[in-house]
Amino acid sequence: MRNFRLVTSLLLLGCLLAFTTHVPAQSSGMNADEAHRKAEALLKQMNLDEKIGQMNQAAGMMIPGLGGAKPDDLIAKGGVGSVLWLIDVKEINRLQHIAVEKSRLHIPILFAFDVIHGYRTAFPVPLGMASSWDPSVEEAAQRYAGQDARAAGILWTFTPMVDIARDARWGRIVEGAGEDPYLGAAMARAQVRGFQGENVGPDSVLVCVKHFAGYGAAEGGRDYDSSYVPEELMQNVYLKPFHAAAAAGAGSFMSAYMDLNDVPASGNHWLLTNVLRDQWGYKGFVVSDAFAVASLQVHGFAKDAEDAALKGVTAGLNMDMASGTYVKNIAKLVSEGKIKETQLDAMVLPILEAKYKLGLFEKPYVDEAKVESTLNRQEGRELERKIASRSMVLLRNENQTLPLKKDLKKIAVIGPLADSTHDIEGGWTVEGLFGGGGKSHPVTVLAGLKNALPNAQISVVPGPTPGKVFLGMVDQFSGSKAVTPPTAQETSEWIAKTKSAAADADVVIAVMGEMASMSSEAASRASMKLPGIQQEMLEAAVASGKPVVLVLENGRPVDINWAAEHVPAILESWFPGTEGGNAVADVLFGAVNPGGKLPVSWAHSAGEEPLYYNHNLTHEPEDRPNFTSRYWDVASKPLYPFGYGLSYTSFKFDNLRLSKASMKTGEATEVQVDVTNTGSVAGDAVGQVYIHQRYGSASRPVRQLEGFKRVALKPGEKQTLTFTLGKDELQFWDPQTKTWVVEPSTFDLWAGEDSTAKLHAELTVTE
Ligand code: BGC
Repeated sequence: MRNFRLVTSLLLLGCLLAFTTHVPAQSSGMNADEAHRKAEALLKQMNLDEKIGQMNQAAGMMIPGLGGAKPDDLIAKGGVGSVLWLIDVKEINRLQHIAVEKSRLHIPILFAFDVIHGYRTAFPVPLGMASSWDPSVEEAAQRYAGQDARAAGILWTFTPMVDIARDARWGRIVEGAGEDPYLGAAMARAQVRGFQGENVGPDSVLVCVKHFAGYGAAEGGRDYDSSYVPEELMQNVYLKPFHAAAAAGAGSFMSAYMDLNDVPASGNHWLLTNVLRDQWGYKGFVVSDAFAVASLQVHGFAKDAEDAALKGVTAGLNMDMASGTYVKNIAKLVSEGKIKETQLDAMVLPILEAKYKLGLFEKPYVDEAKVESTLNRQEGRELERKIASRSMVLLRNENQTLPLKKDLKKIAVIGPLADSTHDIEGGWTVEGLFGGGGKSHPVTVLAGLKNALPNAQISVVPGPTPGKVFLGMVDQFSGSKAVTPPTAQETSEWIAKTKSAAADADVVIAVMGEMASMSSEAASRASMKLPGIQQEMLEAAVASGKPVVLVLENGRPVDINWAAEHVPAILESWFPGTEGGNAVADVLFGAVNPGGKLPVSWAHSAGEEPLYYNHNLTHEPEDRPNFTSRYWDVASKPLYPFGYGLSYTSFKFDNLRLSKASMKTGEATEVQVDVTNTGSVAGDAVGQVYIHQRYGSASRPVRQLEGFKRVALKPGEKQTLTFTLGKDELQFWDPQTKTWVVEPSTFDLWAGEDSTAKLHAELTVTE
């Protein structure tokens, strides 16, 4: 995929044409029954080739080196159900006209694209939005992104990515909600609601929940590598957000690339049929990941392309993304009796239903005249600025270094990300695809600081671009040139510049981390160190004795052990999006009090990965003095725990109580805890509830999140937070009986500000 990615990103960057287009369609919706009836009626008129055509998703552009041609002829024959990787509205309309006017049954095309965190206006990367611990943030962002997408002709987005990521070396951690199934499920549901609304209708964008499933468990955190996940771990952890998205009405799923327990996910009958359809009763459709059907041969799973198509269909995969394997082989498989036409009917039906629900038959074309005005709506920038600041996590703030005073006269801004428009929006931006290159004119941190303090004197020392300085690799996604590491002479010049800028400033703001392309697809890292000479520059700045604030932009936790001891203030902004620089300034100068919390455990170093808080106890738990499961050379606890984040105020949690301290297995109890703002400024607290089942038919995690709530509190204000603990929260998949059980046991309960909360209560559950 890497070469392919390079080609597609270059092509996209090169071939983006001027937009034009429409406000979301307002035609009437169609309910599920009506869509079903219409789809069934249409199916009856379809011949075999037309059915196979609906199962074919074609690339909307030619891909040099990978073959492919303009799909015009195939579309005219009804051989294409969906087109992806196309955002040029004129081309979208041109192809749609062929489908609607020239194909025998006039079935419109479902245009699809990766609208991951915004269309033109980029919202924070998903890991950032998850840090808000506020599902309404995801919902609002995706609703807005959906309006933009729909106006620009995109009807189907390959979002949300709900893979649990317990290993920060895995670059795709940035695309999801982190390590926790409960938080992940909440964020998954919110994204489904954001894009699709209550039901899929003419204003919706169909979601595609990916990558089904277990992709985040890739061995060694290496993208695409095999996952070995036993069924109990799949059920109790990895599948949970998928199930939540399915239950929330997600229109489609995407199968993952990797082998799951030796069977590629895209040909995995257990996943696609036993779990998804039989256990969950899922009625939508599943598309493969790009080229994954053809790749079944590469895995050594399918004998040839025909076998790959057979294995995909038999497993329950409705649509082949981009590989053309279905369209070339299914007819023969049917003629040989290996696939029945009725099997195909069942696979095509949900695809047609989705097209009806989306109102595509009534309104197949993009209103080109309205595209630009929709994509450039100012309200999107305002929303993004709020969402970005709401998603930031204050990791350290010694001696109230932050918020900064607005009367600063001289600021030194250092670091390669300080003014990088290319990176601040993160990867997977629609118009830049892998960062930058779009039309959104992003606000960098430097620009945000200038906006906030127009009269201050700001000096800038970017240092060398760390773009893949390590290993000397090229930042191939963005197409930027290979970066050669600085010579010793150049390094010492940058350090000298850093020192003199710091010496001359009231405060140093270091904007550092990773380039956007260092996380995301095929971007795993074996080291989490700050790349390039960022560490040296940071140390030089601190040595100046001036207050230093580290603003991080990154797609995964990075190694900041030194900074965590020596830099007085650290703000995690992730990749905060188009208005990111203004949002960072809002937080630095106190217009916004940060309230985000980590959706991942922050490791000291890559050697600690995989690292997650909801692990089981060992026979010698880690707080015992000897013979524990500790490393000799790295702390056994994370640098910052899951759920952690500071505020400019302080909170007290107390009075944890249960409506029933003892109950039967079928019952539920209310849990209440009081939270008070004990500081002198208003701020947001995130109340978190964790449970642990002490004994039972399986070992259970030392703690697991089962409730959270973000609330705004004025100084001195107290609120009571209420949670419910019942079947959904207490049950687990029992590996012995292979069923969901709530067992009689004693449960520990903790409530507080993060996963190390001390406030404790007990719950007894009896038969
Ligand atoms: C990625 C998917 C993405 C698809 C389509 C694949 O390489 O794994 O996440 O949705 O491409 O762009």
